[in-house]
Amino acid sequence: MELTHARQRAERLREEIALHSYRYYVLNRPTISDGQFDALVDELREIERAYPGLITSDSPTQRVGAPPADGFQKVEHPAPILSLDKATNREELLAWHDRISKLLPAEYPPPSYVVEPKFDGLTVVLHYRDGQFVLGATRGDGQVGEDVTANLRTLPTLPLRIPVDPEGPAAPAYLVVRGEVLILLRAFESLNAGLVAEGSAPFANPRNAAAGSLRQLDPQVTAQRPLRLYTYSIVTAEGTTPSTQQAILDYLAGLGFPIPDEAAAFDRLEAVADYCEAMVARRAELPYEADGLVVKIDDLTTQAELGSVGGRPRGAVAYKFPAQEAVTKVEAVEFSVGRTGGITPTALLAPVSIAGVTVSRASLHNFDVIAERDIRVGDRVVVKRAGDVIPYVAGPILEARSGNERPITPPSACPSCGEPVAHSEGEIAYTCINAVCPAQLVQHLIYFSKTMEIEGLGEATAEQLVEAGVVRDPVDLYDLTKEELLRLDGFADRKAENLLASIAASRDQPFSRVLTALGIRGVGSTVAALLVNAFDALARLRQASAEEIAAVEGLGPITAQTIVDWFARPKHQALIDKLRRAGLALETLPTEDVSPGTQPLSGLTFVITGTLSRPRSEVEAWIAARGGKVTGSVSGRTDYLVVGEEPGGSKIRRAEALGTPILDEDRLERLTEAAG
Ligand code: IVH
Repeated sequence: MELTHARQRAERLREEIALHSYRYYVLNRPTISDGQFDALVDELREIERAYPGLITSDSPTQRVGAPPADGFQKVEHPAPILSLDKATNREELLAWHDRISKLLPAEYPPPSYVVEPKFDGLTVVLHYRDGQFVLGATRGDGQVGEDVTANLRTLPTLPLRIPVDPEGPAAPAYLVVRGEVLILLRAFESLNAGLVAEGSAPFANPRNAAAGSLRQLDPQVTAQRPLRLYTYSIVTAEGTTPSTQQAILDYLAGLGFPIPDEAAAFDRLEAVADYCEAMVARRAELPYEADGLVVKIDDLTTQAELGSVGGRPRGAVAYKFPAQEAVTKVEAVEFSVGRTGGITPTALLAPVSIAGVTVSRASLHNFDVIAERDIRVGDRVVVKRAGDVIPYVAGPILEARSGNERPITPPSACPSCGEPVAHSEGEIAYTCINAVCPAQLVQHLIYFSKTMEIEGLGEATAEQLVEAGVVRDPVDLYDLTKEELLRLDGFADRKAENLLASIAASRDQPFSRVLTALGIRGVGSTVAALLVNAFDALARLRQASAEEIAAVEGLGPITAQTIVDWFARPKHQALIDKLRRAGLALETLPTEDVSPGTQPLSGLTFVITGTLSRPRSEVEAWIAARGGKVTGSVSGRTDYLVVGEEPGGSKIRRAEALGTPILDEDRLERLTEAAG
C-alpha cells in the first residue's frame, strides 16, 4: 500500500473503530460482530506497523501506550470544581428551594429541574482541544488535581476524539467536561472475586476500587480494570454551548460522551421530591453505586445568577440517600460448602435494618479476609450493602471489644459430611474433597437443574432428594419415580407430576447445555459453547489432550487441564455412561446452533418491572442464557420493557414516552421463538 492510500485508510479505520466502540460500550448496540471489530483493529495495527509515522495519539491502538509513571503531575483546573450542598429528606429539599426562590427576581418564570444520579465514584475533568482528548485530571482539592491522562485514555468509553460520529455537532476549539469514573457493581464483584482468587486483598467498596484503579502508576493495570465514565457538565468551553442542563446532556451525548441513562426532567418541585423519595427504595436497581441524586435547576443562566456560597453552587443540591451501612453484632459463623467443595464463611448477625432492608447474614468473603480484618464472633461490626450485592462485613469496631470475642478459625472437618478439609499452604481456599459429600451434591443438583431448565427443583427439594438417598448424582433425576417423590414431605400428585414432566422435558436440552450442567470447574455456558464448536461430541472432547483443548480460541491451559483431569476420574466416566443411558444429548445435532453470537436475544436489552411468574433472578438468567441483557431502568437503549403484575408506573411511563415496546411474559417467550 502506498503512503497516501495508507494514510487515508488508517484515518477511515480510526473513525470506524471509534464509532463501533461507542455503539458497543456506550449505546450497548453493536452493529457489527466482535470478530469484524477485531478485524478492523488488526488492519489498523498492520498499517501502523508498516508506517509508524502514521500513528496518531488519538488512534484506538494507542489507548494503552504510556509507560508507568513515577508520580502524577499537578493540574490547575480552568474553573473551580465545586462540590454540592446536601439535603437528606423532603423538608430539606423544600428548604433549599425556599432559600433560592427568595434570591430570584419576582418576574422569573418558575424553574424546571433535572435530576441525575449522584455517582459515587471519582470526579474527573477532561480537556479537549480541537476535538482531541489532551488532558484528564482528578478533582483534587477543587482547584488543583492530578494528571491521570494516560490512565483515562484506557477507558473504552472515553472519546479520544470528538465528535465520535463524524456527523455529530462540531466540537468547540476548547472544551472541558466534568464527569465521574466508577466501577459497575457486577464488575466490582468479579474484580474482587478475581483478586481474592489470586491471593490479593479485595477492595472495600466500588468507590475505592475505582480510585485505586484510576490512580495506578501503570496504565496497563488501569486498562484491566472495568472502569466506566459518565459525564454531566461542561466546566468551560470556547464558543457557545447549550444553556440548559437537559440540552447539555443531549449535546454531550451527541459528541459521543456517555451520559447518565437515568436523568429525569420535572416542572414541579413536588414531583422532584416524590421522585427522590421513590428512588431511595429503587437505588438497588441502579447498576452502579449512587449515594444520592443531584437536583439541578435546568436553566444554566439561572444557575449562574444564583452563584455559589462556600464553594457550593446554589442552583443544585445533592439529595443524599441514607447510608447503606449499620453496626451490629456477629452472633455466629456458618460454613457452607459449594458445588465444587469450596468452604465459605458467612456471618450470622443480630438482625439490623440497612436502608430499609433487614440484614441477618453477611458475607465474610474468605478466611484470609477474616484474619486480615481481625473479625471475631461476638464483635460489633460495620455491615455494608450496595445495590443488590450481598451484604458484607467491613470490619470490627475494636473499641467495642469486651475481651470475650472468639477468633474465627477454618473448620478442620466439612460441615456437611465431616470428612477432613483440605488446604494447601499459600492458598486461600479450604475445600471438602469428599467425592460423595451431600452438601456438594445438593449444590450440584441446583446448578444442574438451573442449567437444564428443570422447574420446581430448588434448594429445599434438592436437599430432600439427597437426604432420602434417592439421588446420588444429577443423572439419577432421570430415574426418579412418582412413588419416590410422593414419599417426600410436601409432595402431592400434582407437584410430583410437574417435577417429573419438567425433568423429562430437559432430555431435549442440547449438548452444550448438558456439558455446562456437568459442572466442570471453569466450564460455564460460554466455554461450553466454545468447546462444543470445536468438539462436536462428548466422545471427542473426552479423548482430547490438554494441548488440543487449550488450542481452542478463548480457552486457557488451566481450564484445559481441569477438563482433562475431570474426564480422567473413574467416577465421572461412570457418570457419562449414565448420561448416555438416560438419553441426554452428548453430541451436536445438525440443526443445533451453537455459536454464542447468534442466540435469539443477542444484542437486546430488557428492563423488567412488576412480579413475574418466576423469581426475577430466574427470568434474568433465562434472558441472559439467550444472549439478552437485563438492566435496571428504561432508557433510549432499552429494547423491551417486560411487565408483570403490579408494575412500577414510572418505568411504564418512561417506556411509553420513549416508544419502547412493552411485553408481557408470554410475549417475551414468543419473542425468542420467533427470533430463534
Ligand atoms: S454536579 C457545580 N452531577 O458529587 C456542579 N455532581 O458534592 C456540581 N457528582 O464530587 C456537580 N454525580 O463530582 C454533579 N450527576 C452529578 C454528579 C455529581 C456525582 C459528584 C461531584 C462531586 C460531588 C458533589
